[in-house]
Amino acid sequence: MKNSEEAEWLALREDDGRAYLLQRAPGEVKVKGLGRFDAYELLKGYSEGDRITVGQKSLTIVKPSLPEARRNMARRAQVIGAKDSGFLISWMGIGVGSKVLEGGHGSAGLAMHLANVMGSSGTLISVESRAEHAEVGRKNMDRLSEVLPEFPDWHLIEGNISNIGDTVVDKCGWLDSAIIDIAEPWEVISEIEPLLRAGGRLACYCPTTIQLEKCWAVAESNGLIVEWAGEMIERRWVKASRGGVRPGNTPIGHTAFLLIAAKVAEIEEE
Ligand SMILES: C[S@@+](CC[C@H](N)C(=O)[O-])C[C@H]1O[C@@H](n2cnc3c(N)ncnc32)[C@H](O)[C@@H]1O
Repeated sequence: MKNSEEAEWLALREDDGRAYLLQRAPGEVKVKGLGRFDAYELLKGYSEGDRITVGQKSLTIVKPSLPEARRNMARRAQVIGAKDSGFLISWMGIGVGSKVLEGGHGSAGLAMHLANVMGSSGTLISVESRAEHAEVGRKNMDRLSEVLPEFPDWHLIEGNISNIGDTVVDKCGWLDSAIIDIAEPWEVISEIEPLLRAGGRLACYCPTTIQLEKCWAVAESNGLIVEWAGEMIERRWVKASRGGVRPGNTPIGHTAFLLIAAKVAEIEEE
């Protein structure tokens, strides 16, 4: 039997997508929503793809990935979800080997999506000013690092994102991307812009129109080119009771306006 450091992570999945993460390790554990048990004993004789009953629940044993980890994450601050994270990652070109700055880190909602695509050659710097939020974010990221096959070189800095220059230079030299999710993102744009490489991108996550407008103006006054601004609308469809499918009654409403701006070379003086 492996020790708990190396023990295999598994997810027990309800048919509707709810999932519970646990490690195949001896000793009693408490899994929120499932209760207390010895996971090693419970899973004896079972492997991935099997169905297992725990209490009243009938569950499929699956290999955990980002969706299962997110279902289980602890939350304190409002998190950026799949709708906006997916768009930001694709539009900004974030992937294996990217050098990315993100803050506020909060509960790591965005950071978990980022880590999932950056591979072990990527560098992710997360910044969070509130210790109690950083603690929750770190817990979520630490567990994700055990679940994913690859995880970036991740640094969680407790402090103000506007003072992050030296850390960025020290950890990765320069940035491919920076994503700012704090109440006043425009206040830190001028500090972060010099850390971007030419062609690198900065995004601001702006719940209100005033934030969007201010970020837009400050990004441009710092020489950045606004490539995309707007919001992603998600509308789910459901099966209708009398047959067919139709839009559901609970669409995800407004989350935030996104602004993505790119760094270009300075115009030469005549
Ligand atoms: C909405 S939450 C971030 C959520 C996070 N992006 C996620 O997806 O889970 C905003 C966070 O920014 C932090 N924050 C506010 N101002 C900050 C600053 N200047 N530097 C670093 N963090 C800051 C807050 O403490 C809070 O945790």
